[in-house]
Amino acid sequence: MIDIEDRLTLDERSTVDFVLGLRKRWSDAVYPTLAAEYAETGATAETPEQVEPVMHQLPSYPWFSHLERVQQKMLWRTAGDAVVRRRQELVGDLDAAPEQGVGSITLDHDLELPEWYTDYDIHVQPGSFFSDDLSAYVYEFGARIVMLRDNDGYKFHSLFAQTTLPEKPEATRIVDIGCGFGKSTRPLVAKYPGAEVIGVDLAAPGLRLAHAEAEDLGLPISYVQAEGSRTGLESGSCDVVTGTMVLHEMPSDAIVAVLQEGARLLKPGGEMHFLEFMLTGDPFRDATVIEHADRNNEPYFRDLFGTDTVAACEAAGLVDVSWSPFDERRLGLQPDGWGDRAEWHFPWAVLSARKAI
Ligand SMILES: C[S@@+](CC[C@H](N)C(=O)[O-])C[C@H]1O[C@@H](n2cnc3c(N)ncnc32)[C@H](O)[C@@H]1O
Repeated sequence: MIDIEDRLTLDERSTVDFVLGLRKRWSDAVYPTLAAEYAETGATAETPEQVEPVMHQLPSYPWFSHLERVQQKMLWRTAGDAVVRRRQELVGDLDAAPEQGVGSITLDHDLELPEWYTDYDIHVQPGSFFSDDLSAYVYEFGARIVMLRDNDGYKFHSLFAQTTLPEKPEATRIVDIGCGFGKSTRPLVAKYPGAEVIGVDLAAPGLRLAHAEAEDLGLPISYVQAEGSRTGLESGSCDVVTGTMVLHEMPSDAIVAVLQEGARLLKPGGEMHFLEFMLTGDPFRDATVIEHADRNNEPYFRDLFGTDTVAACEAAGLVDVSWSPFDERRLGLQPDGWGDRAEWHFPWAVLSARKAI
């Protein structure tokens, strides 16, 4: 498979490095400056909503908010141009993967994508995940920069598999809901070598790239195009249901429907774990996370934060439901909290639940 980064011209490489540098300094220099200015006001806000009017008056705020949106747009422009220039070769890679190989891909050409999904360009990515064969290549490339190059080898996803997902030597089926271009699905093959591993997603371009890469790596994964709340899999057939960065991309009723589907799919004793984002309890940091979602065209962050996901899991018959912080840098699951971090970071967290025996 072609890795587009091996083919960048010097100009393209310079632009990628510039955007990456901008994003890093926004996170580790501009954000701490804004946080220090906020602390100096002596404000005693208890909620993100109370923080916002104070934050909006701070000297660094116009710079912080403008840079946040602008570097995101620059990122997609850079990734998009680099990918589209190589359209023929990249589509050739997708076309070369057989439908049935070591794994498989099953696309549903009649699937109607929900309006809540197609109505806006998520992450400000032009055309979102679904509109073009190359959407997934653009997303994959852009995501490396969004994660500040710290997840190029899918470290966050591997940490999730290693520190959060249960050992299940007897597992026969694992499902990854909202698998995207497959970086969350691949670590599941090593974690559950005897099990059938299935990745489900709404978007065909992501599934096609996921499948082509899995075939290239010799990983037996079945990719299926379906709505995460209607996977079509048999009830009680799964040992583990997972998803990463997917719940915050749906409105509240769709989140609840996916959790219900996960509960339906689990065997007794099976476990569900979603690697997500959650409010940290620090009102200033949380205000910037909520605004990041707004400026990044991620309207359903607010839905996830406002949905009682624990009650939804319990109502679906699951037990031991909890949210735990997650440190994506090296530690993984951190039940004791996010720790003290000066830089802006995504508030990674895991929603876990179990189906009673
Ligand atoms: C941010 S991406 C994350 C992809 C992957 N899990 C990862 O960690 O890289 C979210 C993915 O969820 C998919 N998605 C969103 N809502 C979905 C739903 N209701 N059912 C299935 N897939 C969904 C999107 O198409 C997209 O590929």
